[in-house]
Amino acid sequence: MRILAIESSCDDTSVSVVENGKVLRNVISSQHFHSKYGGVIPELASRAHLSYIYEVLTESLKSSNTRISEIDAIAVTTEPGLIGSLLVGSNFGKGLAIKYNKPIIPINHIEGHIYSGSLQDSTVEFPYITLVVSGGHTALFYVESFSDYTVLGATVDEAAGEAFDKIASLLGLPYPGGPEIDKLSKKGNPKKYKFPRSMIHDNNYNFSFSGLKTSVRYFLEKEFPDKNFMNETPDIAASVQQAIVDVLVKKTIDAALEKNVNAIIIAGGVSANSLLREQITSQALKQNIKVVAPDMQFCMDNAAMVGFLAEKKLLGSNVTKFTDLTFRVNASALRAKRVKRRN
Ligand code: KG4
Ligand code: ZN
Repeated sequence: MRILAIESSCDDTSVSVVENGKVLRNVISSQHFHSKYGGVIPELASRAHLSYIYEVLTESLKSSNTRISEIDAIAVTTEPGLIGSLLVGSNFGKGLAIKYNKPIIPINHIEGHIYSGSLQDSTVEFPYITLVVSGGHTALFYVESFSDYTVLGATVDEAAGEAFDKIASLLGLPYPGGPEIDKLSKKGNPKKYKFPRSMIHDNNYNFSFSGLKTSVRYFLEKEFPDKNFMNETPDIAASVQQAIVDVLVKKTIDAALEKNVNAIIIAGGVSANSLLREQITSQALKQNIKVVAPDMQFCMDNAAMVGFLAEKKLLGSNVTKFTDLTFRVNASALRAKRVKRRN
């Protein structure tokens, strides 16, 4: 079975060809120009998708030696994400489905991330815990099969990547700030400053990162009223990174132990963080738990994970289910409600 998959939920235009669980080609065109605005500008993102999507499709088909007639189905990301961006990819997919008379499979982007560990490593067995951690999402899932998973918890406010990006901006670092903080932290002392680890001791799997950002802002205003913190930036960055990673690692390991799983998957852009990878792997190892951190091309936003999951959905149901073209896109991201501490 060969799937043509399209992903355009945020600022990456990606088209992939996936066959029998293997990625033949995963083309990703990232819109780096947003960095000069300090964040993704939705209207510009959707226009850029429009400009690049045909070229990305052509490149993906050509380099995977695929003619559209050889495709069994088209997969498109429909939620969550930026509405304009989602519309470009999903309508482009619908156009191809009509022209070439192919079934079309709408895919939830977060579900794509959830199963990216199985795409990376076909030997990983259910059930497992997936931590999806990116600029838009932070959530933990208990995953039992390709059609069955439970949300254990999610951020109640901002995603971890958003915190990395906003704190990096306070420190005068360019967007996206996560990789900058990761790089700078290697030269810094993570114990120098103590920043809050919100909700780390709460009896649930939810997260909160907006308080950390506020505390860094107050800290900078109080300690460095002249904004003269340049020499301290590596130590501040390392201390911030440690605070974020401590929470992500603690909650993920707790979830894995409670659910008694043998594997943890980490996915989404923040899963590229070197401290997160190192600390989650070493702590999981002590408990005999395997960690799968997919290659960067499958961690960041990409169409391969969309095609991989679409193929599983198609195999598990009737093709006629996927001839409906009336599905819509949906922006809303996963957010947990604040709950009172029980202890
Ligand atoms: O998954 P992604 O490419 O896009 C979405 O947000 O959906 O994730 C981008 C996020 C940004 O917030 C970026 O700062 C963060 O991932 N990021 C990192 C690192 N690399 C990317 N955060 C921390 N450390 C990194 N090495
Ligand atoms: Zn994503």
